[in-house]
Amino acid sequence: MVNTITVVGAGNVGATTAQRLAEKELSRRVVLVDIVEGVPQGKGLDQWQTAPIEGFDSRVIGTNGYEETTGSDIVIITAGIARKPGMSRDDLMNTNAGIVKAVSEQVAKTSPGAIVIVVSNPLDVMCHVAKAVTGFPRERVLGMAGVLDTARYRAFLAEALDVSVRDIQAMVLGGHGDTMVPLISYTTVSGIPITQLMPREQLDRIVARTRTGGAEIVSLLKTGSAYYAPSAAAVQMAEAVVGDQKRILPCSAWLEGEYGHSGLFLGVPCKLGRRGLEAIIEVELTADERAALARSADAVREPMAALTI
Ligand code: LAC
Repeated sequence: MVNTITVVGAGNVGATTAQRLAEKELSRRVVLVDIVEGVPQGKGLDQWQTAPIEGFDSRVIGTNGYEETTGSDIVIITAGIARKPGMSRDDLMNTNAGIVKAVSEQVAKTSPGAIVIVVSNPLDVMCHVAKAVTGFPRERVLGMAGVLDTARYRAFLAEALDVSVRDIQAMVLGGHGDTMVPLISYTTVSGIPITQLMPREQLDRIVARTRTGGAEIVSLLKTGSAYYAPSAAAVQMAEAVVGDQKRILPCSAWLEGEYGHSGLFLGVPCKLGRRGLEAIIEVELTADERAALARSADAVREPMAALTI
């Protein structure tokens, strides 16, 4: 257990993240920050009142400022606007870059030793904003996307094969957008290659559905984007850090030559422990996967180039 985990943004993703963190007792204090007066306080109080029922002692505190967050061990940034039907994640860029910049300035001042997990979209570009503004080393700025995209892929596969989700091992790399790269060559069911269990055509349909998994939910909800699975994914990353679990999870990380790319955040297999990003694992890719990853990197570089921080 660490002392303080801060969640910035008390919308659906942020509030659900705070509740999950508290229920898992990952920190003594969970601080929920939002600029809207009353909302983080109200949600924090409501969540804290679930403690006697759920039986956790993490104290959830809602606030509009950063004083309460001072010295946070982990900061999860969910602040920003969400997509509406028909919008791409990149359509959110300018608005959310300003928000993530303002948040990052506060985090650098009040929690200079924190590990930052970014959830705001467009994810890979917002990670870049957080890293540039905080000046934190790449070990302490990570983006949540691959765990979510992989969870969607695993859920679709488990349903199609009628097997437990627990037995599906998979990895989705690349940017958090339609160009993401589900690695078919590393997808197994308890070690059995997926290609032995499912016709390629069906697998391709599942890959396509995974790529647009976020948009599928936006089009159903109409007023916002997914939050149950995104919050669960962010909390799994925080849990790996708090518990020094050395888990290998697909996360958005700042690349310095890995997979042939540099100077951008992209989803790659990462080892997460108490120091944050402890290693990037480079796996062999097929020529198709390598080309798909390069296209995905281009899709992240393009909005990055248009960004002024
Ligand atoms: C999604 C959003 C969180 O993929 O990007 O649902």
